[in-house]
Amino acid sequence: MSIQTSHPKQHRLEMIRVKPSELFESETLQATVKRGLTHQPKYLLCRFIYDAIGSELFEQICDQPEYYLTRTEDAILRDHADDMVDGWAQAPIMIELGSGSSTKTRRLIEAALDRYESLHYVPIDISETILEESARNLIRDYSSLKVTGIASDYDTALRVVADRMKGPKLLVFLGSSLGNFDDGDAVRLLQRIQGTLSTDDRFLFGTDLVKDAKVLEAAYDDSAGVTARFGKNILTRINRELGGNFDLNQFRYEARFSPEHHRVEMRLISEQEQIVTIPGVDLTVSFSAGESIHIENSHKYTPTILDQFAKQSGFVEERSWTDPDQFFRVQRWHV
Ligand code: AVI
Repeated sequence: MSIQTSHPKQHRLEMIRVKPSELFESETLQATVKRGLTHQPKYLLCRFIYDAIGSELFEQICDQPEYYLTRTEDAILRDHADDMVDGWAQAPIMIELGSGSSTKTRRLIEAALDRYESLHYVPIDISETILEESARNLIRDYSSLKVTGIASDYDTALRVVADRMKGPKLLVFLGSSLGNFDDGDAVRLLQRIQGTLSTDDRFLFGTDLVKDAKVLEAAYDDSAGVTARFGKNILTRINRELGGNFDLNQFRYEARFSPEHHRVEMRLISEQEQIVTIPGVDLTVSFSAGESIHIENSHKYTPTILDQFAKQSGFVEERSWTDPDQFFRVQRWHV
């Protein structure tokens, strides 16, 4: 594992960069496009939506009135952060997977600082730029906070944490990010997380819950069209990076809840019969009218499904918190 460490000026800030491991599915956009657009039915992988524009659109999605997830989880954290960080004589190291701008995590950081007076926070994110910027803002805002940012994939970063950081840990995974993994991959990720934790550690994570299909479909197809632009960004990327000639107006965005798979499935549907060329991967793709490209899944859970996940991954639920509408759930598990 090749690790680079730096202390960008401030002594309370450390940045660790680790080359992603072989475990990280580092398939390129080229490979995905080739495989996914020659597959029946056609698909693309949702992580390719997130370039700079896609990430900015996702930030905008979080502010849409229909997208209740972000504000509901934030309200749960606001009301219960004290309890979520309770349980140790001294502050546990707070580690966050996929920390992004760490906005909601501030509720937990503040509760931990109130309770324990000082805290070591370890945000993990693949984007080094966002990581360093948010780490700088945090140490500026909280004088007794130490931050070690790890720029890497989840698995590699968790290994770095296990090797270098001793003492009790509170591992945080917010935003229902687990929901973008298919069930098998979600359980495997939980198993790997479980494998890095000890009996004094806790795993705190937020998940979106199964609810009325209309509410779910509106959340993933907002009236301002932001989620549709987010989804179509994958075609924009193919056009820009691989010289494709997708006409975005000839594809319609659709979000449908599948109760059977307990997930919202997102697709781009060809408005007519058409042929698209993608010189960067030497590909010509034909679409029939109404043919779709599956671009993303967002799984929604019930307490029963979460309980099965806990059993399958060697965890036991300690506590859970939800909102009055039971739209979203945050739970704390131990091994
Ligand atoms: C990042 N993830 C948890 C979002 C979700 O709700 O599944 C991604 C998203 N895609 C469309 N809207 C939001």
